[in-house]
Amino acid sequence: MLILSIETSCDETAVSLIRATGDFPNATYEILGNALHSQIDIHKEFGGVYPFVAKREHAKALVPMLESALLESELLENHPTNLTDNDKTKITEILSREEGLADFLISFLEKYSLPEIDLIAVTNGPGLEPALWVGVSFAKAIALITKARVTPTNHMEGHILASLFDVEVDNALAPIKFPALSLLISGGHTELILMTDWGQYQKIGETRDDAVGEAFDKTARMMGLDYPGGPEIGTRANIARMNNLPAFKEKLPRPMINTDDFDFSFSGLKTAVKNTIGTNTLTDEEKNRLARDFEDAVVEVLISKTKKAIDKHQIKTLIIGGGVSANTYLRHTFTTQLLDTHKDVEIYLPKKNLSTDNSVMIALAGHAQAKTAREAGAVALITASGNRTL
Ligand code: KG4
Ligand code: ZN
Repeated sequence: MLILSIETSCDETAVSLIRATGDFPNATYEILGNALHSQIDIHKEFGGVYPFVAKREHAKALVPMLESALLESELLENHPTNLTDNDKTKITEILSREEGLADFLISFLEKYSLPEIDLIAVTNGPGLEPALWVGVSFAKAIALITKARVTPTNHMEGHILASLFDVEVDNALAPIKFPALSLLISGGHTELILMTDWGQYQKIGETRDDAVGEAFDKTARMMGLDYPGGPEIGTRANIARMNNLPAFKEKLPRPMINTDDFDFSFSGLKTAVKNTIGTNTLTDEEKNRLARDFEDAVVEVLISKTKKAIDKHQIKTLIIGGGVSANTYLRHTFTTQLLDTHKDVEIYLPKKNLSTDNSVMIALAGHAQAKTAREAGAVALITASGNRTL
């Protein structure tokens, strides 16, 4: 089955072509083409992601990403698509809210043809709704031309499956044991998800305010670092650790670490960082020390709550996913600490290039839900859903 996957939930525009052989979860996936355009440079100017800026950039980048993924796959057919006037009118209608996209797509189709696609997997939530709509509408337009079925795909299911992909078995998902627990840590989410089987998700805890990635980014901003600050905090914290630098000031709080539930809160930590900085302009070394103190606090809370959930639910597999799972210290600390206290629990972390948003994970999640895909003629009702849950 040839899958075209599309991801536009936040600030990455990503398109992949993936060939799945076999049924989920035992399929193998050959990544034929994988294109990704990051909007970070644009959002840096504003210090964060504005949904309507993201939407405009997705509309610009989608056709080039489609072309690039097709080229890499060697599936781009160098002759025009047979487009009727009616097709063009319909494409224009479907993409009427996505500035310029209908014209880009029609020009592309007047030059090239698409291969036979079996399934289009498109992220329809959670995420920034205006950004999600661009991908969803684009998927509908491609379905009109290719007659492929469409799966509206959950971004968080994508993060979970990305962490299992190509780590234990080449080009396939790891054959995990249940019950499994997923710790999802991204720019918009911090959640603990209990999985009793493939596709069976139950949220047992979440943040009550900021997501972990958001806390990283806001802390970075307070220290005068560029958006998204998560990766740079990680780099600076590692420098402080390597050089054994002392804490910046007093120990930062570990919010909700002792509560009986599996919820989190990171806005108090962010305020504590703000108060610690006060009116000081931090030196480079002070930034490194504060980055380390912040990262220590975050990781300690995440590990403590995760271990509690592992014990309560007799978890056999821990899956960590989402952009913050790219963090080196977090990866190292979870792995070593779990080996100390829970050596029977298998831990899965995504390959670094699949930690942050990408479209490979959307193909995996789309394939997982392929049975519920809509026929090309019935895609009109698919909507973007910013608050979609697992
Ligand atoms: O999953 P993701 O790419 O997008 C969302 O779905 O939100 O996650 C992005 C988040 C950002 O907050 C970013 O700062 C954070 O992941 N992040 C990191 C690292 N790399 C990305 N945080 C800490 N350390 C990193 N190395
Ligand atoms: Zn994400």
